[in-house]
Amino acid sequence: MAALFKIIFLLHLFSQIQCEKVPFEERYVDQYLDHFNFDSAKAFGEVTGFTERYLIQDKWWKAGEGPIFFYTGNEGNIEEFWANSGFIMEIAPKFNALVVFAEHRFYGGSAPFSEWGPEWSFKHPYIGLLTIEQAMADYAHLISNIKETMNATKCPVITFGGSYGGMLSAYMRFKYPNLVDGAIAASAPIYLVAGKTDPYAFFKTVTDDIYAANQESVTSARKAFTDMAKLAESGKKGLAAITKIFQLCSPLQPGDLNHLSLYVRNAFTSLAMMDYPYPTDFLAPLPAYPIKAAAEMLVNGSTPLDGLAAATALFYQYSDKEKKCYNISELFIECADPTGCDLGLNSLAWDFQACTEVQIVQSTNFKTDMFPPLNYTYKSRADYCYDKWTVRPRDDWLALNLWGRNINHTSNIVFSNGDLDPWHLGGVLESISDSVVAVVIEGGAHHLDLRASNPQDPPSVIKARQIEVANIEKWITQARRNNSK
Ligand SMILES: *[C@@H]1O[C@H](CO)[C@@H](O)[C@H](O)[C@H]1NC(C)=O
Ligand SMILES: *[C@@H]1O[C@H](CO)[C@@H](O)[C@H](O)[C@H]1NC(C)=O
Ligand SMILES: *[C@@H]1O[C@H](CO)[C@@H](O)[C@H](O)[C@H]1NC(C)=O
Ligand SMILES: *[C@@H]1O[C@H](CO)[C@@H](O)[C@H](O)[C@H]1NC(C)=O
Ligand SMILES: *[C@@H]1O[C@H](CO)[C@@H](O)[C@H](O)[C@H]1NC(C)=O
Repeated sequence: MAALFKIIFLLHLFSQIQCEKVPFEERYVDQYLDHFNFDSAKAFGEVTGFTERYLIQDKWWKAGEGPIFFYTGNEGNIEEFWANSGFIMEIAPKFNALVVFAEHRFYGGSAPFSEWGPEWSFKHPYIGLLTIEQAMADYAHLISNIKETMNATKCPVITFGGSYGGMLSAYMRFKYPNLVDGAIAASAPIYLVAGKTDPYAFFKTVTDDIYAANQESVTSARKAFTDMAKLAESGKKGLAAITKIFQLCSPLQPGDLNHLSLYVRNAFTSLAMMDYPYPTDFLAPLPAYPIKAAAEMLVNGSTPLDGLAAATALFYQYSDKEKKCYNISELFIECADPTGCDLGLNSLAWDFQACTEVQIVQSTNFKTDMFPPLNYTYKSRADYCYDKWTVRPRDDWLALNLWGRNINHTSNIVFSNGDLDPWHLGGVLESISDSVVAVVIEGGAHHLDLRASNPQDPPSVIKARQIEVANIEKWITQARRNNSK
């Protein structure tokens, strides 16, 4: 999911170039380090609190009355979610809303032990304080703190989020209906992460996207992967040929084929998530609907393998621009999330989450998808997590604590999903009740609806945003009625 992180970074730069940025004020709130153990100070060097970062904009707010739009931050720096959730800023004036974006503990500027050094938060036993429950308690505490300190006790609260942030947005409504009046949960794969989705669904959707763009390109990609395996088996010459075609910085070793396949798969995963209807621009320009471009490249190469290398290079930037080469161990790191954890300290935090509560156990089989068979099982995940973090995942916990597929006992949530998004089959695609509404965005990728409006937006996303606004209106009216009783 945190391959998403790089994407958000790319889009962040894009939005800086393309749109006028909405400014914010950065603030910090004192948080409890451990919401669930009153006697844990000794374990954490007598530290009992930390400061959590949040961003706030009150220029549209009708003080004391307007609603609070609260973004439940996910696995990255909060400014990047701010920069890529323009929808919220577009509707805030109409609602006279106060906009707050809260940063998730252990990410960005909210790593609890960062004062001791950047790596400290990610060591034992400190990393154990990184759980969904602690992060949600932080958000509950922050909402209550804002209500108290800003004379906002009667203001309705609507949570927003995309991807893991979308899960948190919905979970906040599940767990804290006393504080949260309604939730927008965009591209939130709540069923998948609870282990309640077909384990091949994710990469099947990536493949379906490419197939829809160009049917022959999937055949070509399969041929390329087969050729690649044959070349790798054929010895030194074959490995050298692959090294050349993929422009690798160092010669491919016999044991590297698996990593190369994952690196290639990750490029398609990322392109599918960012398959937006308008171009994004970073070091290399990505066209509108990059999956369509990748599909064309797959069939355009002088050989299938050339095509596969070209499509892969559409996503990655050269590790060494002078030598024009790709360092596959630097550009893609394997972790507990087969869709990628990205790089840096945030990726450590996400790896830990994917090793504990969040289950992203998705494999490829070369049948329902176009990628080499790469089994990622509960067992291989558990083995990895024990080696890496000395923790064992609890496979049933998320479904127990945050309901799994049985979400009948909630209300006031819109779950939106784009049908191009590889995550969508892991989310809520059918309405549960009159007030728990599913919206499927035809031609939409990963939480397109949260992004600022754009002339290239398909009608489906315009409609989705209208449904979201109508529901928010309803929830606010309801909350006002209840509050005035
Ligand atoms: C607090 O908000 C209420 C509306 O809920 C308003 O009537 C009151 O004047 C506000 N108080 C202050 C000190 O701003
Ligand atoms: C594919 O090849 C055609 C014909 O040479 C060319 O017009 C087109 O731009 C190429 N597409 C890509 C994505 O390289
Ligand atoms: C590739 O990246 C790894 C990890 O950062 C590094 O150790 C290695 O030296 C790099 N290889 C080359 C050829 O640059
Ligand atoms: C993947 O796992 C499944 C079920 O455990 C097994 O049937 C299959 O043979 C495995 N495939 C590979 C390539 O290891
Ligand atoms: C949830 O409600 C729906 C519609 O009322 C019903 O069909 C379904 O069986 C319920 N699921 C559970 C797990 O209670």
